Amino acid sequence: MKKLVIATASFAAIAAMTLAGCSARTDTGTGTGDEAAAGFAADATIGVALPDKTSENWVLAGQLFTDDLTAAGFTPDVQYAPASNTVAEQQNQITSMVTNGAKVIIIGAKDGAQLSAQVEAAHDAGATVIAYDRLILNTEAVDYYLAFDNFKVGQLQGQALLDGLKAKFPDKTSYNIELFSGSPDDNNAGVFFNGAMDVLQPKIDDGTLVVVSGQTEVAQTATQGWLAANAQSRMDTLLAANYQGTDLDGVLSPNDTLARAIIESVRSAGKPIPVVTGQDSEVESVKSIVAGEQYMTIYKDTRSLVAAAVDMVKELQAGKEVSEINDTKSYDNGVKVVPSYLLAPVVVTKDNAKDAYANNPDLLAAAGGS
Ligand code: BGC
Repeated sequence: MKKLVIATASFAAIAAMTLAGCSARTDTGTGTGDEAAAGFAADATIGVALPDKTSENWVLAGQLFTDDLTAAGFTPDVQYAPASNTVAEQQNQITSMVTNGAKVIIIGAKDGAQLSAQVEAAHDAGATVIAYDRLILNTEAVDYYLAFDNFKVGQLQGQALLDGLKAKFPDKTSYNIELFSGSPDDNNAGVFFNGAMDVLQPKIDDGTLVVVSGQTEVAQTATQGWLAANAQSRMDTLLAANYQGTDLDGVLSPNDTLARAIIESVRSAGKPIPVVTGQDSEVESVKSIVAGEQYMTIYKDTRSLVAAAVDMVKELQAGKEVSEINDTKSYDNGVKVVPSYLLAPVVVTKDNAKDAYANNPDLLAAAGGS
C-alpha cells in the first residue's frame, strides 16, 4: 500500500513539473511564494481535510469552504476525519486528495504530528499545502499557515481570567483556580496553554493565584479529543478531591465547549459558578455570557479565515505570489518557521458582546442584539 502511494505520488510529481514547465520545487524558507505550484486549471480540485467536528467553527468551516470554493469556480473535496477514528482516516483522505490531483490541500490537522508522510507526498505531487488553524509539525512540506494567532488567544484568556477574578471578587487578594487545556494531539492546545501561562505563571509564583489541585503541567490539564465529557469528569474529580469547603474562584478553559462542561460540573456539585474562560463564540456560550454565567469567549470569525484561505487558492491558481503573509517568525513546526497569515482574535465579555458581533447576525442575536 505504502509503495503504491509513493509510486503514484512520484508519477504525479513528474506530471505536475512537466505541466508547470519547471524542474524542481525549491523552498526558500522566506515565505514569499511558491512558484512550482503556480498556475493551475481554474476548475481544479482543491482538497480540504478537516478534523472531527469538536466545535462549531469546524462545522461552519466545512460549509464555507464548499460554498466559497464552488463559487470561485474550483472543485472542492471537503472531508472530515470522523470523531471515532484515529488519525489514519485523515491520512487516507489526504492521500486520496493527492491521488485525485488536488492542486492545493488545506488541512485542519487531527494530529499535527502525524501527517508528514501525507503532506510530503502532496508536495511531491506539486500540490501546495496550507495548514489551516492547526499547525502541521516536523515537515518541510507545509507551505503556509493560516490561523488566528493562537499564542495571543491564550494570552487573552489568561488576562481575562485575571480581570474577571478581580471584578467578581473585589475583596479577595488571592484566588483559587484550576487549569484546563485541549487535546494533546492538537498542536494548538499547547500553544493556547503556553499563551495563558505566559500571563498566569507570574501570578501563580507571587501567590495571587492558587491552583489548589497543584495540576499546572499541560499534560495534567489535557482534555483528550477536546471532548466535553472528559472535561466534565476531570472537573468532577477536582471538585471532589480539592474543593470540599474550599471556594473555586476561576477556571482557565481553552474553549467554549469545555467551558460549558466545566460550568455544568460545578453546577451539579451545587457550587457557585466561578469565572470561566472560553474560545470560539459558540452560540450557547454567547447566551451563557450574556446571562452572566461563562465569563468570556474569544471571537475568531471563521468567515474571515476561510475567506483568506480561498483568496490564497485564487492567487496560486493565477500563478501570483501569495500576498497574505504577515508573519515569518512565530510558528516554528520543528523543522521550519512556516510563513503565516495570522488574524487577530478578539476578547468578548458581556460588556462588549453586541459590539463584537455587530457584523455577525447569528451571534448578535445570541448576544441579545438585533
Ligand atoms: C481550535 C479551536 C477549537 C478546538 C476544538 C482548536 O484547534 O483552534 O478554535 O475550539 O480546536 O475544536
